[in-house]
Amino acid sequence: MMVPSLLIPLLLLAQTPEKPRYETRTEHDRDGIGKFYMGREIAQVMGHEGAGWLERPEREKEEHPARLIAALKLKPGQVVADIGAGSGYHAFRMAPRVGPKGKVLAVDIQPEMLALIREKMKKTKVENIEPVLGKIDDPKLPAESVDLILMVDVYHEFSHPYEMTTAMLKALKPGGRLVFV
Ligand SMILES: C[S@@+](CC[C@H](N)C(=O)[O-])C[C@H]1O[C@@H](n2cnc3c(N)ncnc32)[C@H](O)[C@@H]1O
Repeated sequence: MMVPSLLIPLLLLAQTPEKPRYETRTEHDRDGIGKFYMGREIAQVMGHEGAGWLERPEREKEEHPARLIAALKLKPGQVVADIGAGSGYHAFRMAPRVGPKGKVLAVDIQPEMLALIREKMKKTKVENIEPVLGKIDDPKLPAESVDLILMVDVYHEFSHPYEMTTAMLKALKPGGRLVFV
């Protein structure tokens, strides 16, 4: 059978095995895990032992969190997710914006971080934060349930950035926003 010449490259492409999504290298940065995604090395996860550093007062001057929260234009009643919430630095700043009819899902893979959030919720009597224990490749959010997802200082730590991003997009309501800081 004669195959039209234009089809030949397409047929070859279809037969090429898919390139692996991730690459491992033995030589790598000491702060990285030796796993690379799109040429970038994935960072080690910041341990919960360093949670105090996330709450340092200088952060106000360095990062202007109030400006960030204002720019999100959150509305009462919205459901927002703070992925890689850590000690809840941003979750607690978003909670008053969505009010008692809304909620902040504070997702982290370290139960110790979620315990810190629960402790602070008790102390400050904040009730509209829901700590969620995520998995390294799944934020454990129901499909089409969230108006906005915030990620601050976390994407570089995702050991499975492709799977996390796919799952986060599925969790967004139609028109929902994914915010990368
Ligand atoms: C550097 S801290 C930033 C915490 C917080 N976003 C902040 O700005 O204060 C990164 C956090 O992301 C969490 N993390 C890393 N990979 C994660 C994943 N796949 N899903 C959820 N959290 C993750 C870590 O456990 C850690 O608490």
